[in-house]
Amino acid sequence: MRSIVVLHNFIFLLLLLSHLNSVSSWKKEEFRNCNQTPFCKRARSRKPQHCKLIATDVTMDDGDLTAKLINPDDNSGSNPLILSLTVYQNGILRMKIDEDPSHNPPKKRFQVPDVILPEFESTKLWLQRYSIDGDSVFVYLFDGYEAVVRSDPFEVFVREQGSGKRVLSFNSHGLFDFEQLLVKKEGDDWEERFRSHTDSRPYGPQSISFDVSFYGADFVYGIPEHATSLSLKPTNGPGIEESEPYRLFNLDVFEYLHESPFGLYGSIPFMLSHGKSHGTSGFFWLNAAEMQIDVLGSGWDAESSIVLHPDQKRIDTLWMSEAGIVDAFFFIGPKPKDVVKQYASVTGTSALPQLFSTGYHQCRWNYRDEEDVKNVDSKFDEHDIPYDVLWLDIEHTDGKRYFTWDKVSFPNPEEMQKDLASRGRRMVTIVDPHIKRDDNYRIHKEATKNGYYVKDASGKDYDGWCWSGSSSYPDMLNPEIRSWWADKFAYTEYIGSTPSLYIWNDMNEPSVFNGPEVTMPRDALHYGNIEHRELHNAYGYYYHMATSEGLLKREGGKDRPFVLSRAFFPGTQRYGTVWTGDNTAEWEQLRVSVPMILTLGLTGITFAGADVGGFFGNPDTELLVRWYQVAAYLPFFRGHAHHDTKRREPWLFGEHNTELMRDAIRVRYTFLPYFYTLFREANVTGVPVARPLWMEFPYDEATFNNDEAFMVGNGLLVQGVYTQHAKDVTVYLPRDYTWYELKTGTAYKGGKTQKMEVTDADIPVFQRSGTIIPRKDRFRRSTVQMENDPYTLVIAVDASGAAEGELYIDDGKSYEFKQGAYIHRHFMFSNGKLTSANLAPLTSFGTKFLSDCTIERIILLGYSSKPKSAHIEPSNHVADIEFGPLQIRSGVRSSVLTIRKPNVRVSDDWTINLL
Ligand code: NOJ
Repeated sequence: MRSIVVLHNFIFLLLLLSHLNSVSSWKKEEFRNCNQTPFCKRARSRKPQHCKLIATDVTMDDGDLTAKLINPDDNSGSNPLILSLTVYQNGILRMKIDEDPSHNPPKKRFQVPDVILPEFESTKLWLQRYSIDGDSVFVYLFDGYEAVVRSDPFEVFVREQGSGKRVLSFNSHGLFDFEQLLVKKEGDDWEERFRSHTDSRPYGPQSISFDVSFYGADFVYGIPEHATSLSLKPTNGPGIEESEPYRLFNLDVFEYLHESPFGLYGSIPFMLSHGKSHGTSGFFWLNAAEMQIDVLGSGWDAESSIVLHPDQKRIDTLWMSEAGIVDAFFFIGPKPKDVVKQYASVTGTSALPQLFSTGYHQCRWNYRDEEDVKNVDSKFDEHDIPYDVLWLDIEHTDGKRYFTWDKVSFPNPEEMQKDLASRGRRMVTIVDPHIKRDDNYRIHKEATKNGYYVKDASGKDYDGWCWSGSSSYPDMLNPEIRSWWADKFAYTEYIGSTPSLYIWNDMNEPSVFNGPEVTMPRDALHYGNIEHRELHNAYGYYYHMATSEGLLKREGGKDRPFVLSRAFFPGTQRYGTVWTGDNTAEWEQLRVSVPMILTLGLTGITFAGADVGGFFGNPDTELLVRWYQVAAYLPFFRGHAHHDTKRREPWLFGEHNTELMRDAIRVRYTFLPYFYTLFREANVTGVPVARPLWMEFPYDEATFNNDEAFMVGNGLLVQGVYTQHAKDVTVYLPRDYTWYELKTGTAYKGGKTQKMEVTDADIPVFQRSGTIIPRKDRFRRSTVQMENDPYTLVIAVDASGAAEGELYIDDGKSYEFKQGAYIHRHFMFSNGKLTSANLAPLTSFGTKFLSDCTIERIILLGYSSKPKSAHIEPSNHVADIEFGPLQIRSGVRSSVLTIRKPNVRVSDDWTINLL
């Protein structure tokens, strides 16, 4: 017995060492490529027109259009498939294809629950009519659009009525294939082997694949998570045969590479296309099994005899999944924001974060003990750097038993948190899903007794290795288990936790050091006899959901949860924040962090960020400073580092560099009113905070492929600096607008690429003409201290001298905003008049949010008149006007107009008249 324990410990040490080894780079051989993945290899080798199915028996059933897909030439006894089409409000078509239950398949295939919003289901348009013409069935979809099911050969497409121009199509190249579940007979050998692992595959191959075409598309985007460019490069076609498809399989990848289609920690099978002829469209496949997606380069189907609409540019894609059903959504757009709103109406918008979490977060693996925490916290104050949250990684626990504290290093966790809270700061601790198999560990005892763990293929509790050694994983698919897990966050259960403590969910792909591809075996079993292969990409989502529900429960539903998760899936945006995992301290990784975060925003998850400085390795000081400067404008802003790296808190690099990092963080804090207003917009509409340029300028082709710059809302354009010793950087400023450089107020005409000089002090940031941006410019230590500070409004006027913007304020923490407790203002400037009007609905019921905050300064950029005074109505008070430069740098001088101390209240209606 003892020798078994010793052997176990030895194996664990080896596994841990191999996982901890940060010097070696990505271990390619640990992960399968498409050729080593039979379903992917099979799908990729199919030739166009492989599909022989035809659609028959079209009927109306419960407001859906249903049909059977049969192969008239098939004598092998395979069963018909059932197709159903449903139309929803706002131009959304949903198509499902599954096995026919009346033919008794060996089990029901997994259809992912808990992602689609119940309120979306209620927007279903009850279909009553369809028309048939030859072998096609037409269904009205939306103003000017229709869906068409062609029976022979089987194809589904969406097109504009009248012009007949296609938007999206399914199976136009005949690559649809659906492997039906089998009952094992004597002699059947369906096992799949990879390295030392065997997958029993009890139902045989069960994959699905098909082609989807996007019409009028110049580029396609989306399908995170990959460390690649924003517009997705072709992965197959003439000249690019060697490339891997984009893989969607949640994996714990140490030291991932930039420019790789390899799957990372999360998966969202949602692709958007954009082009100048149709605009934007989207395709979403709700499926949680491993997926591989090829973007096909032009000429890939040269052998195919079909000629498809040569008048329209088209991008073809091939979608392959190991299991599940077809549950696909077609979004017609046609504008970029329409598509993200359509997707958000299906999977939800992002939760409104607590205000504190939009500030700066300081993390490290690990802050060693309470003294370390105190020290780091006080250094922020000593160096006048604002921050809101201090994080503790796995070492704070008692032997990686989550919900516990290391008694030596963290003997007084409550006092520690209260001390931070006394200065308005929060703490985050890590809680991973691997539960240490220790009979004295309360969580393990309860989970074992209640049968709450995921089972292995033989039905025993699955046992894998992770930070905690031999571990098991709660089966989060089961609502009862999620509820049990959520209860663990009660203050009486999580001893040492206080109301200022929030949570970090890591390793929830799930990561299993000794599992196939560092994860759980595909034949492990979940609640309802669901195989892990069917659920894999959603495991982390369910885990995140349960944790978030825990934080909600512990405060009786009053406090908005903050939970950061590494794994994600469609719907994650409703439960919390995401970061891009274990990146590296390299310039190219800073560069790729921008398209990675923009892609997450496009696919629903706006509250996302990357480890500032890079997790692995030691960034040189210049890289670290640049990283702060870029990340200050991205939604989730956290510095983090591996334990092997040197300490890198912002004050460790000499006074000058401290100043640069301090400036970057302070800039973020000044823009928090704007960020929070944008988070509110994201919460209401699904439009992300950080946006690719083409989302704001969909007709400006020069923006379509730009992922070095991005927009924060519709007002700020941020151009990152991604190279060492940069003296200048080229910036494309979209056409039809004037752009005001932030620091100097200098105006640039849009529609041109500018070469901008840069110093180490900052990166180029511009405010677009026509916008009004709210800021809080006074320096404070954290968001809490800023609460009553006055605002500055920065108005950048357009060619007609007009501009507009918004400000949203609430208590920053509770759900009272849902009862109307918020202030939402619309600022409008035109003809020398600035007006503040209420945007919140005027209701006589509900709670009110009150604020005495005032506006202390208004800065006007690009306003050519020279007014002498500013009269404020209705008070008749007169405010000072000042002309002068914002800040002089590199000899640039630019005149701006400032209205000082208008002192109007943000909650009131008023007008300021420039005379
Ligand atoms: C992996 C995470 O990605 C990283 O951020 C964390 O520091 C380590 N796990 C240790 O918990």
